Amino acid sequence: MKILFVCLGNICRSPTAEIVLREIAAREAPELPLQVESAGTADYHVGHPPDQRTRTAARRRGYDMSSLRARLLEPRDFSRFDLILAMDRSNLETLRSRAPAMVRERIRLFMEFAPGADRAEVPDPYYGDANGFEEVLDLVESAARGLLQHLRHAQPATLTAGVTTPAAGRSSGPQP
Ligand code: 4NP
Repeated sequence: MKILFVCLGNICRSPTAEIVLREIAAREAPELPLQVESAGTADYHVGHPPDQRTRTAARRRGYDMSSLRARLLEPRDFSRFDLILAMDRSNLETLRSRAPAMVRERIRLFMEFAPGADRAEVPDPYYGDANGFEEVLDLVESAARGLLQHLRHAQPATLTAGVTTPAAGRSSGPQP
């Protein structure tokens, strides 16, 4: 199962999701054959490590992001990944506009997987204060656990048919 997280710059939210999902999965669901990457829809920071504030907040919770470097979303990502998870609606729209029609059902909002979340988006922390980076981690940890729960039950064919929450405007619960 190949998962791609996507935000704007690939230096705050999506690399956080990449590292959090990878580490929680290694601890809590080592049986799942997961491959996780992240990318940005904009090229402002290509080749850069994650934002210093992101790395500091992540390190306090035990996540080491030092090996990650930002990359731009590529056309071939649409065929390489089973699920492409956007951090906010703006990135979701960008992804949908760039994706071939046949793969659009693989593109979802990451927060759809957060159980009981009252938020549909992981807000952009870049121009905010330190609290924003903590909030990103809180939301990402919750959605990553919900996603893992979904993946434990998903067969490849149902991978894209799974969980939605009231925040995303539909009913919740993994598909049988
Ligand atoms: P991200 O945050 O999309 O979560 O990586 C941002 C990073 C950089 C910028 C905006 C958002 N920027 O405008 O440079």
